[in-house]
Amino acid sequence: MPFDKKDISAYEAMYEAQKIAYAPVIFQVVRALRDLGVLGLLEQSGKTGMTATALCEALEISQYGVETLLESGLSCGVVERDHNTPAAYKNWVYFLSKVGYYMLNDSMTRINMDFNHHVCYHGLSDLDKSITDGQPKGLAVFGEQWKTFYEALPHLPERAKNSWYAFDHFYSDSSYPLVLSIVLRDHPQTIVDIGTNTGKFAILLAQSDPNIKITMIDLPDQLGVAVQNVETAGFADQISANAMDLLDSDLKFPYGLDVYWMSQFLSCFGSEGVVSILKRVFDAMSGESRLFIMETCWDRQKHEAATFSLVNTNPYFACIANGNSKMYHSEELLNCVAEARLEVIEIKDYISICHSLFECRRRYD
Ligand SMILES: C[S@@+](CC[C@H](N)C(=O)[O-])C[C@H]1O[C@@H](n2cnc3c(N)ncnc32)[C@H](O)[C@@H]1O
Repeated sequence: MPFDKKDISAYEAMYEAQKIAYAPVIFQVVRALRDLGVLGLLEQSGKTGMTATALCEALEISQYGVETLLESGLSCGVVERDHNTPAAYKNWVYFLSKVGYYMLNDSMTRINMDFNHHVCYHGLSDLDKSITDGQPKGLAVFGEQWKTFYEALPHLPERAKNSWYAFDHFYSDSSYPLVLSIVLRDHPQTIVDIGTNTGKFAILLAQSDPNIKITMIDLPDQLGVAVQNVETAGFADQISANAMDLLDSDLKFPYGLDVYWMSQFLSCFGSEGVVSILKRVFDAMSGESRLFIMETCWDRQKHEAATFSLVNTNPYFACIANGNSKMYHSEELLNCVAEARLEVIEIKDYISICHSLFECRRRYD
């Protein structure tokens, strides 16, 4: 089980508590070490390592600045020094640690850090208010006019927008090719991609089979981005677009299609919203239709590190996205599916980094 109780001493517990108390500081220190080029130079220096003086000369940053970052970097294990070689403090030689290597070179780590910095960091200081009010109070960082993050998304400052897209795409991009054969197994002629975002899966479907007619659904401004991408990819004849705010429970889905597809979509809604959407999918489905839900459920992960990242993405949903959505525990999601009178036919776990695929049909009872 992830997050099992650990038997630790009072001293260890106190130390762990300080790591949490200083976690935002450490986050910014490591980001600065990465973005100012310190980690990159230490990597290049290999087993020779570098002194603070050499780093500050190479990067044209003050000795004070480099030392401040390196000392914090030592405390969290991102940089190391050779304790066996005695040297005066000013002559200490620093190396990139294994953790530092991943901070610098691992795409997932880089993308998670950029998302947390550019999208979440400032707004998260209002997490407590967001939880008590059930409102995404941190969203105000990007303007007071937005009710949800998804309305704001196409209008965000470039760095925030690009970090969000990189975060969203990193996980779904690698899963799409792995589920394509399942979605296309029964040779569907009509597919709706609900919450299409930039239209990536719709385009992949069109590339895979020229006979499928695909409809993309998303919020109006977001759909503009998808339509442009579809036109650029040359699939305007095959892929149409339907702008809908699915929080409006009067809006219905196109009727009797072969496949209803939603990826990383239900996590954008509170459980009432999820049930409302699924009930409307049920109303639209024929007996032959299939609903595929691809989600990142934190209880269905092989590795505790994945569960850690997923549950710690939830404060973004609470404070920035809309105040009531989350990466669901699969039991909660499956309860919503059942409440909408849908039946799960098959669940496939461990797709790429962290996805599960739920294949559903109408339940007759
Ligand atoms: C997390 S993204 C997932 C994108 C894509 N399906 C994927 O797998 O990467 C969720 C998408 O749902 C859309 N969305 C969120 N709230 C919505 C709403 N109320 N009505 C319609 N679409 C919405 C967002 O604009 C966004 O494109």
